[in-house]
Amino acid sequence: MKTPFIIGSLLLIFILILVSCDSDNVAVSDDASEVRNTQLTVEPTLSLSLGDDQTIETTAQPGELNYNLYCAHCHGYDGEGQLATTVENTRSLGMKTVPPHNADGHTWEHATPLLVDAILNGIDNPLNHYVMSGFSHALNEQDALDIIDYIRQWWTEDQREYQQEVTRNYVDVNGD
Ligand code: HEC
Repeated sequence: MKTPFIIGSLLLIFILILVSCDSDNVAVSDDASEVRNTQLTVEPTLSLSLGDDQTIETTAQPGELNYNLYCAHCHGYDGEGQLATTVENTRSLGMKTVPPHNADGHTWEHATPLLVDAILNGIDNPLNHYVMSGFSHALNEQDALDIIDYIRQWWTEDQREYQQEVTRNYVDVNGD
């Protein structure tokens, strides 16, 4: 009866010795807590008023908040398009995926008034798995322009210039 007790005690002592010798780990976790306690200071660039005396200060640029709220779950938080893990399912149904807005997509090929129209009125395409409804209930024209400005950051310089040119052509022919 005594042997298991002795083995158990020895094991316990052995574990205690191991734990107390593990000073490397202790040092690492000290470092980690130092890192955690480091304060990041970022200058607010935009402040949103919520009415009365409530104000949120944020580093987000105009368009970013609305993009993240209304668009990112379909078009991706970095404009990368439909969530990669769902693409196969959409394709297996013979339908179109949500296009990216970044440099890999084709948003930059379209004139600004057309992009605004798509955002406010939606795109009714039966081939799409996730149909894009219009956002005029939540966004106005300036909001849409701000979102397009936010999307522009993902394009190359050439794509930005091309998009300006097709916008000029479109406005010359159709007006604003
Ligand atoms: C329910 C998913 C969904 C949401 C939410 C959504 N979109 Fe889309 N969007 C699509 C799909 C699908 C298309 C492709 C339409 C087509 O080409 O037939 C599309 C196309 C577009 C286009 C046309 C140009 C291009 O790149 O194909 C723009 C611009 C666009 N979306 C912007 C937005 C913005 C801005 C928001 C948020 C305000 C938004 N979308 C929210 C699904 C969505």
